[in-house]
Amino acid sequence: MPTGTIKMNQPPPQPIIGPPPKSTKYKGVKHTIMVMSGKGGVGKSTISVNLAVSLARNYRVGLIDADINGPDDPKMLGVSDEKVDVNEEGKILPVKTKYNVDVISMGFLLPTEDTAVIWRGALRHKALQQFLEDVAWGERDFVIMDMPPGTGDEALSVAQIVPDVEGVVVVVTPQDVALLDAKKAINFASQMKLKVLGLVENMSGFVCPHCGETVNIFKKGGGEEAARKYNVPFLGRIPLYTEIVESSDNGVPSVSQSNAIAEAFNKITENLLNVMEKRSTVR
Ligand SMILES: Nc1ncnc2c1ncn2[C@@H]1O[C@H](COP(=O)(O)OP(=O)(O)O)[C@@H](O)[C@H]1O
Ligand SMILES: [Mg+2]
Repeated sequence: MPTGTIKMNQPPPQPIIGPPPKSTKYKGVKHTIMVMSGKGGVGKSTISVNLAVSLARNYRVGLIDADINGPDDPKMLGVSDEKVDVNEEGKILPVKTKYNVDVISMGFLLPTEDTAVIWRGALRHKALQQFLEDVAWGERDFVIMDMPPGTGDEALSVAQIVPDVEGVVVVVTPQDVALLDAKKAINFASQMKLKVLGLVENMSGFVCPHCGETVNIFKKGGGEEAARKYNVPFLGRIPLYTEIVESSDNGVPSVSQSNAIAEAFNKITENLLNVMEKRSTVR
């Protein structure tokens, strides 16, 4: 027979309530912009990397690959074989790229490119916190955060700890469901008290490399319609180009070339800067 007694009158332990505290050690960055979406595979990493490279022509830019489970940014920037170093103060040095963008990613910490990260939320959260606090970001005009997919736990945990977020850029695809996906992401942002800086419609029509004709595989205009409906700025659209896949796979961001694709990405950067300027936040 067990002999322990149960004390009925003691209050139960208090559950942990409230969000985790925002980081107080992530400083020196003027504008932190989160790139997110209502779901995965819509081109967050593609947009994040190209936005960062495009901004880096005129600004000091860092990129945080906050997708711990699917860290694609090193490959897209041609630095997947790099490992991180620490400086004399013990701070992690972000990896330098040819494109004037310094990047930190779980990808640099894994033994091989195809190692799966099987971590519970708390550990992923800790990694993210290190990307903010233990990396020698120094003075930066922009840090772009390539967010985990969707609006679930992981995105929430990232959004909660980053202080002074300038706002979010929402990536959607052009189908009718873009309305739903955009709504999810916009609701997420508003619940987190984050400003939506604008919406990008990605995979918007396929430009045939042979005849130059555009085929609207996923329809067209869902992103723009969503932007109108939810009253957020529309930053532009990136068509489906086979070259974008090749560029990502080869580690040469599309925007670093000079063609119509680069122009489309640059236009989005320009529109984003205009939105920020109107809010007079570009310091
Ligand atoms: N506009 C586009 N045209 C062609 N391929 C694209 C385009 N945008 C993204 N891709 C490709 O689609 C895949 C998913 O994009 P990615 O940026 O990794 O999405 P996410 O980060 O949202 O999961 C990648 O292989 C990428 O190269
Ligand atoms: Mg990604």
